[in-house]
Amino acid sequence: MNKYRRPAPPRPAKKGQKPNKIFIMISLSLILAFSLISSGCRKPASVVYLDELGAQHVTAGWSETKANKSIDGNPLSVAGQIFDRGLGTHAESQCRIKLDGRAISFRALVGIDDEVKKTQRGAERASVEFIVSARDQQNNPTVLWKSGLLKAGDPAREVNVRLKGFSSLDLIVTDAGDGISYDHADWCQARIEYRGHQPEPVKPYAAEPYILTPPPAPEPRINSPKVFGVRPGSPFLFTIAATGERPMTFAAEGLPAGLKLDSSTGRITGFIDKPGTHQVKLIARNKLGTAEKMLRIQVGDTICLTPPMGWNSWNCWACSVTDENVRQSARAMVEKGLINYGWTYINIDDCWHGQRDPKTGEIRSNEKFPDMKALADYVHSLGLKIGLYTDCGPKTCAGYEGSEGHEEQDIMTYAKWGYDYVKIDWCYCEGKDPRVAYKLFGDAIRRAPRDIIFSICNWGRENPWEWGESVGGNLWRTTGDITDSWASMAGIGFGQAGLSKYAGPGHWNDPDMLVVGKVGWGPELHSTNLTTDEQYTHISLWCLLAAPLLIGCPIEQIDDFTLNLLTNAEVLELDQDPLGRQADRIAEGSDYQVWARELEDGSKAVGLFNLDAYDHRKVRVDFSALGLGSGSYRVRDLWRQKDLGNFSNYFEAEVAPHGVVLIRIFR
Ligand code: GLA
Repeated sequence: MNKYRRPAPPRPAKKGQKPNKIFIMISLSLILAFSLISSGCRKPASVVYLDELGAQHVTAGWSETKANKSIDGNPLSVAGQIFDRGLGTHAESQCRIKLDGRAISFRALVGIDDEVKKTQRGAERASVEFIVSARDQQNNPTVLWKSGLLKAGDPAREVNVRLKGFSSLDLIVTDAGDGISYDHADWCQARIEYRGHQPEPVKPYAAEPYILTPPPAPEPRINSPKVFGVRPGSPFLFTIAATGERPMTFAAEGLPAGLKLDSSTGRITGFIDKPGTHQVKLIARNKLGTAEKMLRIQVGDTICLTPPMGWNSWNCWACSVTDENVRQSARAMVEKGLINYGWTYINIDDCWHGQRDPKTGEIRSNEKFPDMKALADYVHSLGLKIGLYTDCGPKTCAGYEGSEGHEEQDIMTYAKWGYDYVKIDWCYCEGKDPRVAYKLFGDAIRRAPRDIIFSICNWGRENPWEWGESVGGNLWRTTGDITDSWASMAGIGFGQAGLSKYAGPGHWNDPDMLVVGKVGWGPELHSTNLTTDEQYTHISLWCLLAAPLLIGCPIEQIDDFTLNLLTNAEVLELDQDPLGRQADRIAEGSDYQVWARELEDGSKAVGLFNLDAYDHRKVRVDFSALGLGSGSYRVRDLWRQKDLGNFSNYFEAEVAPHGVVLIRIFR
């Protein structure tokens, strides 16, 4: 490895050469006079290194940016060259530096840190692009330089751009379009030469948590989805979700034979033997009034007619999950009122498996889960449903017993225990055809004596949206795992463009679980790193996308802001719309996007997103892009649950950095 060396000093004159003294003196005086005139006696330029400006303002898609070290804390090293100064970050990364128009240049050597080459996977997957862009006084961006694609082992590329006249500098590292895995990116010897004020980093905008949604009305409101699917003969459990003052009583008109309603809990249970469609009127009453809503019960092959809503243990507890953690979140789902908005599933992720019974091969749980059936009974007794996790391979991702060779047996065991949902992971499955591997589970699920939602989790490998439904999948992950950073959440969420045609009732694209509230992937939890506005964006985008909604924080620890975020009936209604039409991106620019979806009643849901981390900006939707003709339309702000008035031709709103304005447009 060779160390980075500063530029060599000027060489002395060669032996034997006799400099002409008079010539040199005249030249020097001329140079001096010329530079004095041209500079107007300016003070000499100064230099500030990026590492002196602080690493904390440089966002990183994973971990935290470090000064004079790589993202993993090693000496900065690119293609064998070690650098003593710079910033070690991780795609997607961004930093804005304020200039006063008198900065002269930005110079650096950039590349992927050699530390990724410690593993073959890292060496293969690391790829980034560095972008240097600057804004003028009117805030118009100009891209000054792009590195092009850089992979592990590529020599550092030099950037040297002029900054005169610019008011800010943006240093960006993208994932080069293939996800952020192993994208350890170094800005080496990065420095700004300037006159005037020293450049200063700009902090990305981050508002304190603010609550937009008013509390629910005391009168009853039924929030359950309008459609529910069940297979003939499967146990039926549907809890009418309703907000409003308690006590509340429930009734249902037109229930098919085989079903009964508990009027005090609103739970409908039983069995329906024959295929068919039933229109049932749900009624909720309290002392202040009555609410009614039609529910279409579809008895047939297709279940999961709206995206599943619930909780999953992974983003908070990961492998430290216990039976008690699961019970606490289930209890809190009811006590905090989330159940009244349709939140239903309580899903155990990895790390519950024990050893198989040596004689029968039947899977058993480990000591943290003393009785899987008792746990399922407990969750059902709350009016909720329960799910668990396994893997196509011999082991789960965390190294527990997988289901390979036991696919049918395991599904039947889960059914016997009373589980309603299974997520099936893809670790230790290299070389398998996912269509074949997942079909074994899909077929077993169809033979199981109860309805089990089938969640395919192969991180989008081999486009599961193209075959997931045909192997019995109800949802399939479209990407790798989410983390609680803007780059990860926005990269996954906005990356769903183009997938809408694969989603619909019974089969959903899954952009992974929610990262709001406290997360941590282990016993130590922290509040999500997403800003307040990024969290509004996260929930808005997932609801527009008709995505499965799985809360990833311990519900018993939920704060008021997060609870409010997860209990806006009008926002959740988008996700659960019976038409099941996933949103499309209908407009985009360098720092904004507009997404829209059609809803069953003919109205449109539209998200106006500001992708800039620093500045508020106006985002607009043209009604013609929504297929709406001339005329005036009522526009409702869904987070505030407030009509904004009638608009013609377009709607425009001021949107916070990384934030959203979510509206519904009615004819
Ligand atoms: C994979 C999945 C995650 C989680 C973990 C568990 O990474 O994608 O959602 O289930 O495994 O080990």
